[in-house]
Amino acid sequence: MSPDPAVGDADSAGIALVGPGECHIWSAEARWAPELLDVLDERERERCAQFRHEGARALYLTAHVLARRTVGVQLGVDPRDVVFVPVCKNCRRPQDPPHGKPTLPGTPLELSLSHSGTRAMVALTTVGPVGVDIEEIAARAGLPLDVLSAAERAELDRLPEAAWPPAFIRYWARKEAVLKATGDGLMVDPALLTVTGPDAPARLVEWRERPEPHLPVRLEDLAAGDGYRAAVAVVGDGDRVQVVRQSDVRV
Ligand SMILES: CC(C)(COP(=O)(O)OP(=O)(O)OC[C@H]1O[C@@H](n2cnc3c(N)ncnc32)[C@H](O)[C@@H]1OP(=O)(O)O)[C@@H](O)C(=O)NCCC(=O)NCCS
Repeated sequence: MSPDPAVGDADSAGIALVGPGECHIWSAEARWAPELLDVLDERERERCAQFRHEGARALYLTAHVLARRTVGVQLGVDPRDVVFVPVCKNCRRPQDPPHGKPTLPGTPLELSLSHSGTRAMVALTTVGPVGVDIEEIAARAGLPLDVLSAAERAELDRLPEAAWPPAFIRYWARKEAVLKATGDGLMVDPALLTVTGPDAPARLVEWRERPEPHLPVRLEDLAAGDGYRAAVAVVGDGDRVQVVRQSDVRV
């Protein structure tokens, strides 16, 4: 794989090159097409086959093809030749099976992917570690409110109960984007993080018990379509990052 993203060229699907200081976001609607399995590596094909629900299988396939295509364009390589190495902060090597934040060794690119409902999202940047999260606002029997900090819970309490699901999912997408950027994922209690209220511009306000140097984090909400909320977080100097939302890609 070429380590120089500049060698890539925009491909026919309209996937743009990620410029310095930019973080690009692509999304796709889940699609099942058996020929797309050929784009995945052996481990991904195995994981894909493990999903018993065909919608979940299609979503996993779509997210991973989208990630491979967008990275492939940046590096000027065939999507099949892209090598993702998952790295888990919590495990000792070797990890069996491999899991954790996907990385692209030997390249300057940072990657994150997310899938929910029927939507997949991918973020790519060279600025610093990135986390993207998309969440469907599905009707739920109960919201897991214990993932909110006291300040977030107090904000939610001010809203009419009918407004809780979209507000909660807004919180959730922002917090998970940050935890995915740092690679902690849900091994860190999301209640330790406080983000701004659902109607305010996204910002990480506080992270209790967090050792440096994982801040500052640039946090931004993303348009994700009706019934969804999404956010992206980039670790690094927030003022330097320009978030560029790309149009949907048909995988
Ligand atoms: C990663 C996690 C935040 C995903 O949340 P989610 O809303 O269910 O899923 P999303 O669709 O948003 O993201 C899934 C993607 O995040 C990525 N991911 C996995 N672990 C990650 C981590 N620690 N940090 C950042 N990204 C991670 C993967 O690419 C994954 O996609 P894939 O499963 O298709 O390969 C959550 O499931 C988690 O923290 N899991 C790890 C728990 C853990 O560390 N357990 C201990 C293992 S030793």
